[in-house]
Amino acid sequence: MSFQIALDGPSGAGKSTVAKALAAKMGLIYVDTGALYRAIGLYTQRKGVDPKDAEGVAKLLPEISLELRYEADGTQQVYLNGEATGNKIRTPEISMYASAVSAIPAVRDFLLDTQREIAAKNNVVMDGRDIGTVILPNADLKVFLTASDECRAKRRWLELKEKGMETSYESVLEDMRRRDHNDSTRAIAPAVAAPDAILLDSSDLTVEECVAKVEALALAKMKK
Ligand code: DC
Repeated sequence: MSFQIALDGPSGAGKSTVAKALAAKMGLIYVDTGALYRAIGLYTQRKGVDPKDAEGVAKLLPEISLELRYEADGTQQVYLNGEATGNKIRTPEISMYASAVSAIPAVRDFLLDTQREIAAKNNVVMDGRDIGTVILPNADLKVFLTASDECRAKRRWLELKEKGMETSYESVLEDMRRRDHNDSTRAIAPAVAAPDAILLDSSDLTVEECVAKVEALALAKMKK
């Protein structure tokens, strides 16, 4: 049996940073499930299909093949029909596409098995929105990571700036709130904490403090 950590929460809460560090420390595979939705968003955008058009997007799915590969340093790369997606899936435009296509049931179905298969074969820390509620309901540990809106927007803005994508803090905050609203109010697999998830607010914590807290929780579960 594999050891599974479900790390859910809204964008900018620090999930990927914490998950990456935790994976390195504990020898787990880090799975960034948002990147899978982003890759479908990228394909939808390239095909000129409206990401809110459920039927139109569903028709594209048979044309899509996604593969997760890991580089030597543990970095995940999503391959879309054989092409490394890299930073192409990290733009604000593709964030909105990802959020829109992720509300489509056919898209979520399409990605369900991929995610479960990886978690069945590896010890994972899986970062997403519905990992603890839908994908891995029996995960060994479920953490729902949050932080204030302003704090999350500032982190996301700095991250985009570092990647050379110039935008204003205000527009990042506005996009984030719109995306949070879409993600948490959609009919299917809304981004909410599982009843048995442990809530962790990262607003006033350093990355190291967050990682230490999740690691302590994971070690306690491993001992059981
Ligand atoms: O974590 P992220 O920002 O890269 O995710 C991109 C979008 O994909 C986000 O708006 C919500 C959606 N998503 C989802 O619905 N379920 C997941 N498990 C991961 C992401």
